[in-house]
Amino acid sequence: MLVRVLNGPNLRRLGTREPDKYGTATYARLVEHCHAVAGELGLEATVRQTDAEHEMLGWIHEAADDGAAVVLNPAAWTHTSVALRDACAMLTAPLVEVHLTNVHAREPFRHRSYISPVAAAVIAGCGIDGYALALRWLAARPAGG
Ligand code: DQA
Repeated sequence: MLVRVLNGPNLRRLGTREPDKYGTATYARLVEHCHAVAGELGLEATVRQTDAEHEMLGWIHEAADDGAAVVLNPAAWTHTSVALRDACAMLTAPLVEVHLTNVHAREPFRHRSYISPVAAAVIAGCGIDGYALALRWLAARPAGG
């Protein structure tokens, strides 16, 4: 199974970015963790991050064309981007929305997600383990399901 693990703005700064909220694991550690779990599960995973919305849209379009499943942390675009939601709605394989923090326990503007209505599943508040949970859930799904 092809899986794209895609990360939105500011996530490359993990490790130093508000560690009280996002933890001390670096972005490099997150990438390594995803590759290790994907390898264990026999998934073909690529892990990427961008601060540029047009680049993220291109990656989602590519995933739609390739029939790849997507694990997406849309970061701040979660709460702002109709364009990203529209792109996600074109995906043909499952989309799992992941947040490191429990966005529902934070500021009210983080409670609304433009992405959740077009996601198959949402994981929030599990830190970087949320990515591993998403990959495990995808790997356990029946083919074509
Ligand atoms: C986040 C939560 C968002 O509200 C925030 O803008 C982020 C990270 C998370 O992983 O908890 O950048 O998606």
